[in-house]
Amino acid sequence: MKTVEIPAAELNTRQFIQDKVRQIAETVGDGCAITALSGGVDSAAVTVLGHKALGKRLKAYFIENGLMRRDEAQTVAAIFRKLGIHVEVLDAKETFFSALAGLRDPEEKREAITQSFYHKVFGPLVQQSGARFLLQGTILTDIEETVAGIKRQHNVLEQLGIDPRKTFGYTVIEPLIELRKDGVRKLAKALGLPEPVYRRMPFPGPALAARVVGEVTPERVELVRAATAIVEKELRGTKTFQYMAILHEDRFPGMIQGRREYGMQIEIRCWRSRDARTATPAWLAPRVLERLARKITTGIPGVVSVTYNIASKPPSTMEAV
Ligand code: XMP
Repeated sequence: MKTVEIPAAELNTRQFIQDKVRQIAETVGDGCAITALSGGVDSAAVTVLGHKALGKRLKAYFIENGLMRRDEAQTVAAIFRKLGIHVEVLDAKETFFSALAGLRDPEEKREAITQSFYHKVFGPLVQQSGARFLLQGTILTDIEETVAGIKRQHNVLEQLGIDPRKTFGYTVIEPLIELRKDGVRKLAKALGLPEPVYRRMPFPGPALAARVVGEVTPERVELVRAATAIVEKELRGTKTFQYMAILHEDRFPGMIQGRREYGMQIEIRCWRSRDARTATPAWLAPRVLERLARKITTGIPGVVSVTYNIASKPPSTMEAV
């Protein structure tokens, strides 16, 4: 069945919330549902809808994979606490880092993260929780990108190790399927989520691992996490689509405490884009670039080189990995 789009301009949020809450409540009946928050606006909106429909019968989790931005898990949990929704933070750092150990190929790294999430962490959690309903923040663009081969096909139940042909009773509920991102942002605002959530810039599924060239270790993620915090603080006011810090693998000659040593390189990207399909670099003012370089080289020991990307997508991609 083809999904009919509800454009953001035509979205009546009050009616939409009422309808979806009723539908979720009817579908789940007196059972329980489970959902995983990513920190993004889609999963946040779906969690509030699910909570309105089910109250404590919705179990919301945030999987701490060790690849998130600084304080992300605590920030997400605190936002939902204010809305009266308990989010359980599950520490799975070890699982993700051991799956990533020794991997350097971008596709292998992405695959290790996907497999760890579905097969080692969330799959077992869903099956142990007793919940038969899975609330997912899939939006219309996700479906289109899957069909077009841009995103990986995601048959969620199979990913979770649940074979729908053998196992009866598992249902995926996708209340946002008629919306695009702008519609979800409007909905999230109407649901009472704060501005940092409904205006949040895109962040990739593989999280900071998408910005670590070469092996993803806790130490290397920590470096890119520190650089990300600086870049996000400095570029927050730029009204651009997305900005990021990338840790490179090559070592560069530098002067550290008066001695010539090989140090690390951070690349900054700041994109202008409408929909992430194409993008051009923002022409940041020299004083902004200069401040970024100073904050990164003084704030992160061992970094001796900071570069700014000036290539467009295509042929570049927005993320590094
Ligand atoms: P690329 O690097 O493909 O990124 O030019 C385009 C946009 O998509 C985001 N991105 C991802 N989002 N899972 C996601 O949910 C992913 O694996 C992924 N890879 C890239 C990226 O941040 C950018 O906004």
